[in-house]
Amino acid sequence: MYAITAATGRLGRLVVAALLKNQVPPKQIVAAVRSPDKAAELAAQGVVVRKADYDQPDTLRTALSGVEKLLLISGNDLGRRVQQHRSVLEAARLAGVRVVAYTSVLHADSSVLSVADTHRRTEADLREAGLAHVLLRNGWYFENYTASVPAVLASGELVGCSQDGRISAAARADYADAAVAALTAADDRRERIYELAGDSAFTRSEFAAELSRQSGKTIPYRNLAEADYRAALAASGLPDFVAELLAKFDTAAARGALVDNGRQLSGLIGRPTTTLSQAIAAALRG
Ligand SMILES: NC(=O)c1ccc[n+]([C@@H]2O[C@H](COP(=O)([O-])OP(=O)(O)OC[C@H]3O[C@@H](n4cnc5c(N)ncnc54)[C@H](OP(=O)(O)O)[C@@H]3O)[C@@H](O)[C@H]2O)c1
Repeated sequence: MYAITAATGRLGRLVVAALLKNQVPPKQIVAAVRSPDKAAELAAQGVVVRKADYDQPDTLRTALSGVEKLLLISGNDLGRRVQQHRSVLEAARLAGVRVVAYTSVLHADSSVLSVADTHRRTEADLREAGLAHVLLRNGWYFENYTASVPAVLASGELVGCSQDGRISAAARADYADAAVAALTAADDRRERIYELAGDSAFTRSEFAAELSRQSGKTIPYRNLAEADYRAALAASGLPDFVAELLAKFDTAAARGALVDNGRQLSGLIGRPTTTLSQAIAAALRG
């Protein structure tokens, strides 16, 4: 049995779809979800849906019963997730789960990204729990950038503060395929670490140039000071803490925090990762 936490999220749904595509029988897939009512589509495909709320340890223990391999998708509540992940690891230990794969962040051990600290703590907890584990150190999703394509086209410019920092993004679907490859592999090492990132990196200027080419509109990239970018994000309607987080991510990108040239992601999934051109084309198709 495979269990996928947060299986109603965007990454989790792609992981379940990729497992099914890999001929894993739906009866052997547990969608371990906070909100079973959001999982009707998965249940209709024969996937086993069980309630698994990171904040309710009892649900985790029941959800992981009989599970051999678990994908723990990192929680999105940054202030709580270290404890939430601990609850999942404790439930996995009690349920006798054999392997836990965890979606960490690129170069977690040395990353300057503000989110890296919580990932480092969960990586340490995994080692301490004595569970065989796979660290899927995911780089940035293309979708972090392509989600704002309609707004960028409407405003006529792309703004940011990443300067000419390179970003080795890949599509969520690429990371989902990597999780499935790592989870289904017959590999008994106690620890496997993958630095997962797109095959080729881009700068925000190159993103704007490709968007201009494909949309037929001239979209320049304008680099702002971090405080000005944060203010622009807040003015666009984002909560202040999100605007601050995103602006800091961009500053980290300027310092090289989102680049990686190791090509471990394409190696793991056995195909090239999604390109910038493909990601923008997908966003323009809507
Ligand atoms: N690499 C990147 O660029 C990047 C970007 C953003 C986030 N991330 C990380 O990657 C994770 C997955 O990304 P995503 O795109 O799939 O995010 P997403 O679409 O926002 O999904 C988040 C999932 O987490 C679930 N969740 C939240 N709190 C929970 C709890 N207490 N118990 C159980 N499940 C809970 C949500 O459940 P419901 O369906 O019930 O709401 C949802 O399914 C994120 O959570 C975050 O840690 C990575």
